[in-house]
Amino acid sequence: MVTPGHKPVLQTAFHHLHSKVHFIDMKRIVCGLLLLFINLSWLNPIPAQTPEKQEPPKRLAIRAGRLIEVKSGTVINNAVILIEGEKIVAVGPGLNVPPGTRVIDLGSATVLPGLIDCHTHVTSQPANYYEDLFRRTPIDYAVTAHVYARRTLEAGFTTIRDVGAGEFIDVALRNAINAGTVVGPRMQVATLTVGATGGHGDTSGFSPYIKFGHFSGLADGTDEVRKLIRFEIKNGADVIKLIATAGVLSEEESVGAPQYSQEEMNAAVEEAAMWSRKVAAHAHGAEGIKRAVRAGVVSIEHGSLIDDEGIRLMKERGTYLVADIYNDDYILSEYGRLGYPAKIIEKERLVGRTQRESFQRAVKAGVRIAFGSDAGVYPHGWNGKQFAHMVRWGMTPMQAVQAATVNAADLLGWSDRVGSIEPGRFADIIAVSEDPMKDVTVFERVSFVMKGGQIVKDELTRSEVRLR
Ligand code: ARG
Repeated sequence: MVTPGHKPVLQTAFHHLHSKVHFIDMKRIVCGLLLLFINLSWLNPIPAQTPEKQEPPKRLAIRAGRLIEVKSGTVINNAVILIEGEKIVAVGPGLNVPPGTRVIDLGSATVLPGLIDCHTHVTSQPANYYEDLFRRTPIDYAVTAHVYARRTLEAGFTTIRDVGAGEFIDVALRNAINAGTVVGPRMQVATLTVGATGGHGDTSGFSPYIKFGHFSGLADGTDEVRKLIRFEIKNGADVIKLIATAGVLSEEESVGAPQYSQEEMNAAVEEAAMWSRKVAAHAHGAEGIKRAVRAGVVSIEHGSLIDDEGIRLMKERGTYLVADIYNDDYILSEYGRLGYPAKIIEKERLVGRTQRESFQRAVKAGVRIAFGSDAGVYPHGWNGKQFAHMVRWGMTPMQAVQAATVNAADLLGWSDRVGSIEPGRFADIIAVSEDPMKDVTVFERVSFVMKGGQIVKDELTRSEVRLR
């Protein structure tokens, strides 16, 4: 019997053979020509090709009433920033602006380096607990992720460290932003969180017969932990997110219990380091925090129930605390409406206030602090709301700004590119209309955003903003 497939298959094979013969002939001809050309050019060398005429990099100057110099913690008046292409080339008070430079005059506004949020989940935000779990696919999340990325950038956050996303959506988003296809902040991504079975990274509380068909991010024992980390790095992870303790927004018992042994945590940090990756540890409970710090993680995320020994260890090791101290307000006011199980909201009641007190103790003790909001637990673009809490719970406005700029850049290992307004850094610059040293709530209303020399938002000069 001749199946319908036969003829085309034969035809294709023939065509293939034919084109191969043809290709060999062509190859001969091309080789011949090439040899001839080489011989001729040896006898009669052609002059070196003139380089293509390159456009000179675009020159911009920003003028502003005030500039926050985040490294020294000082304020410069009548600031001028000179920008060439995507980088800053000079900064100082009353600098001369070279002729032919386009000047963006921000009047009396205050300029600062683009803000950095070290703890986001930019690929999603909650709408309804069960709807999100059972009726939305990874494709739904992938389709909307760019909306949140743009909101984050427009809110003044020009860099984020995104610490956990499903299905490598964060990798795709980061790549699309880097390629200029999508508008969003610079991103470091963690891909799947690395967690224990039944822990904060797992989906618990349902019938054991319910299976979720996704990459799980679960690993038990040092070998599995290492293997998962290798798998994540292979697929695009810039940083590793380790679930060191239980959590709030998951249905397992407790919130303070450790979820990895010391050996597992040591293996995670060692494996990540082998691939030049740092580890950020989700940790609420005191014991898990200490294990993670001893293992050598670069940051403790949340840090809610930290004890004095934990604070001492973090200071000693220079571990950053990234505490999402705005979250509690949003969870307690909105998560009932979003259909979250009572058990989860109860857990929030257990840690919310204590986390803020712990933050205050850590600040007082001199633990290094980097800004991290956990945006994605609440709406993206609201990241700046956390500044007011950081000041209420022990920081000066300058310290809070430093946490979201120099310190955050240091935590990311990106001090050479972001986090300060200095020559050589990306021209990632924001402006606020009032003095942030008097009122940090201005970060909830950032009026001007530039990323890599491109204006993303401008409510100050009222000139047109055109995005790619
Ligand atoms: N992702 C974190 C968790 O589920 C959010 C904690 C929010 N609550 C807070 N008080 N920071 O554990």
